[in-house]
Amino acid sequence: MAKPNLQIACDHSDLPSALKAVKAVGDVVDIIEAGTIFILQVGDIGVKSLRALFPDKLIVADTKCADAGGTVAKNCADAGADWMTVICSATIPTMKAAAKEIKEVQVELYGNWTYEDAQRWLDAGISQAIYHQSRDALLAGETWGERDLERVKKLIDMGFRVSVTGGLAVDTLKLFEGIDVYTFITGRGITEAPDPRQAALDFRNEIIRIWGE
Ligand code: 5RP
Ligand code: MG
Repeated sequence: MAKPNLQIACDHSDLPSALKAVKAVGDVVDIIEAGTIFILQVGDIGVKSLRALFPDKLIVADTKCADAGGTVAKNCADAGADWMTVICSATIPTMKAAAKEIKEVQVELYGNWTYEDAQRWLDAGISQAIYHQSRDALLAGETWGERDLERVKKLIDMGFRVSVTGGLAVDTLKLFEGIDVYTFITGRGITEAPDPRQAALDFRNEIIRIWGE
């Protein structure tokens, strides 16, 4: 079983604070995300700035794109993103159009979706999914549980590379022991920690402890 990647989500509302965070932890993480909040606030300068700072890192634009997939994907790719996200309720033509313009598209799982939908995404050539506990669901009291683990496992069995995200703490990772998670995506668990670099190292060390080097 491969060691999962660690991705930092920059969900900042302004450019300077995102750049400060990413400068502190960029060398510790495998993937850098221009978060949805960040992109909505600052636009493509956010992705361009991350790319300028880290020419060789994987960069994701978390657009949660619902329509105009080709245009949004081209804009993200032109700004320097390797991957972008589309919302699971987007149509297959939107997903396919996006996939033509950028290296990879990830489907963000929110709300209602079925395994039949998931098979259609695979058939359309989209093999990355992000299993997400939404901020608002977590705030409303939901937690990670057996139902989530079963869904993550089923998606992996179907052939997806599955990223996991939503209010992750270092302690959450051990729930996924024995599961072939592709990437853990962490925002506030790193960016709002008293020492973000140490928090990123703690996430990385916990991944290594559980999955090995
Ligand atoms: C929210 C997101 C976030 O980037 C993702 O959930 C990670 O952030 P956090 O760890 O703070 O929940 O895409 O829609
Ligand atoms: Mg995000």
